[in-house]
Amino acid sequence: MRKKIIAGNWKMYKTFSEAVDLVKKIIPLVKDSAADVIVCPNYVCLSEVAKLLPGTNVALGAQDLYWEKEGAFTGKVSGPMLKSVGVEFVIIGHSEQRSYFHETNETVNKKVKAALENGLKPIVCVGEVLAERESGKTEQVVRNHVEGAFAGISEQDLRKCVIAYEPVWAIGTGKTASPEQAQEVHAFIRGLLSRMYNKAVAQEIRIQYGGSMKPENAKDLLSQPDIDGGLIGGAALKADSFAGIVNFKG
Ligand code: 13P
Repeated sequence: MRKKIIAGNWKMYKTFSEAVDLVKKIIPLVKDSAADVIVCPNYVCLSEVAKLLPGTNVALGAQDLYWEKEGAFTGKVSGPMLKSVGVEFVIIGHSEQRSYFHETNETVNKKVKAALENGLKPIVCVGEVLAERESGKTEQVVRNHVEGAFAGISEQDLRKCVIAYEPVWAIGTGKTASPEQAQEVHAFIRGLLSRMYNKAVAQEIRIQYGGSMKPENAKDLLSQPDIDGGLIGGAALKADSFAGIVNFKG
């Protein structure tokens, strides 16, 4: 049985004090969760949020990293820097990075490698835009994202990764993929991993769903056989709605 894994992607929301306030509210609400719980604040809040997490069941994630260790790369943050403040997970290849900040399969792959080299666990985002879904290209796009992200990644390293299927048309739109639509793509990803690696490792990897997940639809999505968790945007910005997803009853 794969343990569920629910992560809150706070995106570019929350000032320093708001982030501290939010995590303080989340911690007691999720303490009995059967799922792994992760919060991913913006860079400037990471170290302060990190101080509040020891002794809790909440882990820390970042929203991106740069693949070089250090250097003249103004504005960028590296794997060793994230590691040094207690980050455990890092979101890579989010559709907002792909669409606004020139993220490609190649840069995703470099970031996945850099994360793994620095002892961070990648949460690799994949997913199609609406036009791709409507023209029947969902599987082709998702295959391209998965193969690109994990090119040259060993089976042993793959085991440290989480995949997030985020149909771009469902992100922040209130339009959730139906449980059946999501399950179909999750099963496709697992089949793909099975062909790229082997069945055993494909069965082990956790695949989150992301895109307008909220307490009202979490149970139906998370009850699907290949949906192992959620990567939550809007609903992760309030403690009660995030906890409502984390504490779903199957
Ligand atoms: P929403 O939950 O706001 O749709 O965002 C999903 C997402 O992009 C998480 O990474």
